[in-house]
Amino acid sequence: MKKIAVFTSGGDAPGMNAAIRAVVRTALYKKLDVVGIMRGYEGMIDGDFMEMDSRSVSGIIQQGGTILQSARSKRFRTKRGRKTAFKNLIKAGIGGVVAIGGDGTFTGANVFMQEYDIPFVGIPGTIDNDLFGTDFTIGYDTALNTAMAAIDNIKDTANAHNRLFFIEVMGRDAGFIALRSAIASGAEAVLIPERKTNIDKLMKTLTKNNEKRKRSSIVIVAEGDDAGGAFKIADEVKSRFDKFDIRVTILGHLQRGGRPTCMERVLASRLGMEAVKALLDGKRSVMIGQIHQDIVYTPFAKAIKHHQKLNSKLLEMVKVLG
Ligand code: F6P
Repeated sequence: MKKIAVFTSGGDAPGMNAAIRAVVRTALYKKLDVVGIMRGYEGMIDGDFMEMDSRSVSGIIQQGGTILQSARSKRFRTKRGRKTAFKNLIKAGIGGVVAIGGDGTFTGANVFMQEYDIPFVGIPGTIDNDLFGTDFTIGYDTALNTAMAAIDNIKDTANAHNRLFFIEVMGRDAGFIALRSAIASGAEAVLIPERKTNIDKLMKTLTKNNEKRKRSSIVIVAEGDDAGGAFKIADEVKSRFDKFDIRVTILGHLQRGGRPTCMERVLASRLGMEAVKALLDGKRSVMIGQIHQDIVYTPFAKAIKHHQKLNSKLLEMVKVLG
């Protein structure tokens, strides 16, 4: 293996730049050439590659987003798209690829691996933390801290007006951001896709808080909650008890940007280094994760199928402490 490539794909996540930097610098240290593929699988199909040296990744460790940009590629889902991508990789002399992304990225890589013979390894990069095979994904810690800071601000104004706030955080299929940001901000309740939402139960909690004359109540709603999002749930609650003074905030994409936290940068740097070593050790079709500080290799097929389990003790914490 003389030359490797690195790309970012799917929703960007803070810390992706730190991972790119680590991949590039480790590759150069190991005397490999390295190219960056722009816009994920889209750039692979278009042959949008750029040679990278040590300077191309200077001053990026502290930046959110991704210098290689990202995309959700429809063309890579077609046989034709994947064939063109393979031809471009071969033409560029690439002997191994590091894919940084989430579910969709590794689903694509998994299909590609069954059709073509170029080793891919993956680095978990998504704010959702929904991949099996790592304690934490790159981007999760920063997104949590961003959400927590925003919720703290909302709590100030909620307290000032005795209001009930429904705050929607990201997580189309997973409640990890919702759960930990709820604990960290002292929220009264959390609604997540992994548990069926019970409005009667929620009403009980909220009316109890009202009777206790709590100054405010905060309910964190994960984007993918089955009851239909923060606005819909707020309407339902209002229709059952119109004395609540309710407001809704959708945090949205502000959770995806920003300076990566220290933990994020260290995790991303470690996984980036280990990804290059894994390629050189002959590993393929695996995601590099960290579990209890140890490096763990999980086949793509497993990382995407077995979603990380939600710790129900964390749910209990919201109930008892909120
Ligand atoms: O990257 C994960 C994620 O942020 C999800 O939490 C969210 O549902 C989705 O991406 C939003 O994607 P997009 O930016 O394409 O709208």
